[in-house]
Amino acid sequence: MATYLIVGGDRGIGHAICRQLHARGDAVIAACLGDGDDLTRQGIRVIRQIDVTSDEAARRLGDTLRGEDIRLDVVIHVAGVLGLDELGRIDFDDVRRQIEINTIGPLRIAQAVLDRLDEGSKLGIVTSRVGSLADNGSGGMYAYRVSKCAANMVGLNLHHDLSQRGVSVLLLHPGMVATDLTRDLPGDFDYIQPDQAAAGLIRNMDELTPETAGRFRHANGEYLPW
Ligand SMILES: NC(=O)c1ccc[n+]([C@@H]2O[C@H](COP(=O)([O-])OP(=O)(O)OC[C@H]3O[C@@H](n4cnc5c(N)ncnc54)[C@H](OP(=O)(O)O)[C@@H]3O)[C@@H](O)[C@H]2O)c1
Repeated sequence: MATYLIVGGDRGIGHAICRQLHARGDAVIAACLGDGDDLTRQGIRVIRQIDVTSDEAARRLGDTLRGEDIRLDVVIHVAGVLGLDELGRIDFDDVRRQIEINTIGPLRIAQAVLDRLDEGSKLGIVTSRVGSLADNGSGGMYAYRVSKCAANMVGLNLHHDLSQRGVSVLLLHPGMVATDLTRDLPGDFDYIQPDQAAAGLIRNMDELTPETAGRFRHANGEYLPW
């Protein structure tokens, strides 16, 4: 049994990850923006009202873990937002909001729980293939692409720092998943369900070793270009 911290467990992929890990017997702590009552009812430990844009919330998360002397085997940062935009009508406040949540959020959380990680611990950050420079063949989605591309840089930087302490970092893409996040996305995609994405992401984290760390991996197992 390992101890997992899942950041962004209220809904969607994060919620499915919490449920699956709990079902297989791991100790799951879900850091939720909301109250996470649904997870609590299922017997999952919830730390409430953790907004990844808040220094106070990040500090409270770290303090709670420290206060109970909880060591983390695996952290998976899932929290994120997608705001659609279009050149000519870009709302720069929304660009900043997406960067604050999608890019700075995982860095803030990683810093807050740093001292809870030991040699052999793992950190996964769910970014998106849409943040891949090499994979961008269509443009659009300025704020989301930029925020997720920079999130990959956050993760790669964390890899360089944390690998020296024996902590393995992996950047993750869940696939195209039918959640609230993609509900209004225009276009015809072959969506998978959150449970399938969650199973793939968990498998990626299970398979992660110091030798395979510092890379960007699809939930289907494929390694993606930056
Ligand atoms: N769905 C896809 O096809 C897809 C593809 C590529 C990447 N991703 C990435 O996968 C991750 C999960 O997406 P999803 O599809 O599961 O989306 P979702 O169903 O909309 O869930 C997003 C989660 O992030 C949480 N969240 C949002 N803002 C937050 C904040 N400021 N602080 C803390 N938590 C916050 C939400 O909490 P509340 O419920 O309380 O709002 C929710 O639990 C995101 O990072 C997303 O960018 C998704």
